[in-house]
Amino acid sequence: MANRKIIIAGNWKMNKTPFEARCLAYEIAEKTEGAACDVVLCVPFVDLFQVKEAIAGSKIGLGAQNVHWAESGAFTGEISADMLVACDTQYVVIGHSERRQYFGETDATVNARTKAALAAGLKVILCVGETREERELNETNDVIERQVRLALADITAEQMANVIIAYEPVWAIGTGLTATAEQAQEVCAYIRSLIAELYNAEVADGTTIQYGGSMNAKNAAELLAMPDIDGGLIGGASLKPTDFLVIVAAGSAKASR
Ligand code: PGA
Repeated sequence: MANRKIIIAGNWKMNKTPFEARCLAYEIAEKTEGAACDVVLCVPFVDLFQVKEAIAGSKIGLGAQNVHWAESGAFTGEISADMLVACDTQYVVIGHSERRQYFGETDATVNARTKAALAAGLKVILCVGETREERELNETNDVIERQVRLALADITAEQMANVIIAYEPVWAIGTGLTATAEQAQEVCAYIRSLIAELYNAEVADGTTIQYGGSMNAKNAAELLAMPDIDGGLIGGASLKPTDFLVIVAAGSAKASR
């Protein structure tokens, strides 16, 4: 067994009011009590407090879905890393393809956010992934290499202990199209080789690399059976407790191996 954590993270995106979030988080916390893998819920900012209370005493990690790179200041509508830490948030998703696609996220802003989050003591779930067009043009590895290298610029080997990478092919997100286990494994292994090149084999071996993109109750076990897939970042299925619990069970099975 490789020397890294298996992490199943839900990305709730822009779903759930605080009350709804509290109910969902409570149900998930109750039913994942015996999980052998790590479980994280990445929720809308306004839900952090309610979810924190609902998961209190459980092993679930609390996560946000974005963070600004500045410490404070005139950035209307933004949230800083220190604010997240003050809300007992432990994880933050950075560079999700929806932010890259709809909100002007670039490799440079992903890097700036990552640095600020790590400096504040947060764990980062860093998202990378190619579009359908890029895959069809055989550019997948080039795109992944660029995104990984630029996102991790100036991040030290020590800081990598707090970085999780999520490989999320854009064409598979919310589309019901999942990468085959072999396609996902191939890119996750490639990401690990890039980390070995940027840092060393020990850092690469210790880095959790998740797959995300229509991971669900039916395909999770097959994807997680792959040697370089150490967890999942789950959107749609993370809002359905029964499905999410099946995915957590698949993660637990892998963690116990
Ligand atoms: P999906 O989303 O599981 O709904 O495809 C995954 C993600 O965007 O993180």
